[in-house]
Amino acid sequence: MAPDIDKIYQQAMVSIDSAVSSEELEKIRIEYLGKKGKITNLLKSLGVLPPEQRPLVGKEINALKKDFIQSVESRLNFIQEESLKEKIQAEDLDVSLPGRHFSRVGSAHPITLTLERIQSIFRNAGFLPVSGPEIETDYYNFEALNIPAHHPARAMHDTFYVDGGYLLRTHTSPVQIRWMEKTSPPIRIIAPGRVYRCDYDQTHSPMFHQVEGLLLDEDASMSQLKGLLDNFLKSFFKRDDIKIRYRPSYFPFTEPSMEVDIQLKSSHGLTDWLEVMGCGMVNPVVLTNVGIDPEEFTGFAFGLGVERLAMLYYGISDLRQFFVNDMEFIGQFGS
Ligand code: DAH
Repeated sequence: MAPDIDKIYQQAMVSIDSAVSSEELEKIRIEYLGKKGKITNLLKSLGVLPPEQRPLVGKEINALKKDFIQSVESRLNFIQEESLKEKIQAEDLDVSLPGRHFSRVGSAHPITLTLERIQSIFRNAGFLPVSGPEIETDYYNFEALNIPAHHPARAMHDTFYVDGGYLLRTHTSPVQIRWMEKTSPPIRIIAPGRVYRCDYDQTHSPMFHQVEGLLLDEDASMSQLKGLLDNFLKSFFKRDDIKIRYRPSYFPFTEPSMEVDIQLKSSHGLTDWLEVMGCGMVNPVVLTNVGIDPEEFTGFAFGLGVERLAMLYYGISDLRQFFVNDMEFIGQFGS
């Protein structure tokens, strides 16, 4: 090999062997085989050689060229294989690693849990959960429930009025009316939902939850009502020995009306009587308002405050704790 050719060959091999990317290799290829490349130039210089030397030198340069091309190709293969290996290693997924545990899982809010328990007890007794609007008209919230304008019962409701003659419902009883208007007896519903009153202290908040219940049939009776509520309270508080008392009361939409009180066992013995719900036989005036004949059907209704029951069940003394979003407090109740 002529010294020039030999030198170029050595340099080319060193460059090829040290190339680490396909871009780098392409540059080397152009450096040698491009228009002004070193090997290209060698071939061009053949013309100035004496004719007798040309075949021999030409053969050497062509051998160099062939070698060069092969070396570039094999280096390229090597680089591509290496980068594929690296990629596979980087993306390697070890599916046999153990899973990670969540150190803290969320839990349902105590009011949600209480609502769910109440609904499930009544669902077992055949009551369908239904809902109605939170923004109501005066008619559904008061009038149809036999609470006409200026009726003293309105004073107890501390109503929030909104534009357009609407109000935020002060109780879930209007759902009774809406349901009786659109279906016919027999009816067995409960209506859980939010209600609003302009009130705020240890046992009141401007928004709270109620569950309304209504049963309407040919022969609904007071004793059925008492049996249902006895069972409900025993299941809700998970005690058979709970003391229950029905006390005559007054609600415009029921006649007769009662309030239900309970006594619970505490570490100091029995608690005082605690008022937990209102109930009664649906007032015939209400049935007439929705076009149901009170001679043909009788019904009973009841209404309870969800926060009140949750406070008694969990032993919480300040209702506002349900609404301040203290995670330590809310997280105690399990799912
Ligand atoms: N709506 C009443 C209130 O918010 C609760 C109530 C009492 C509902 C007696 C009833 C009932 O259906 O019969 O104070």
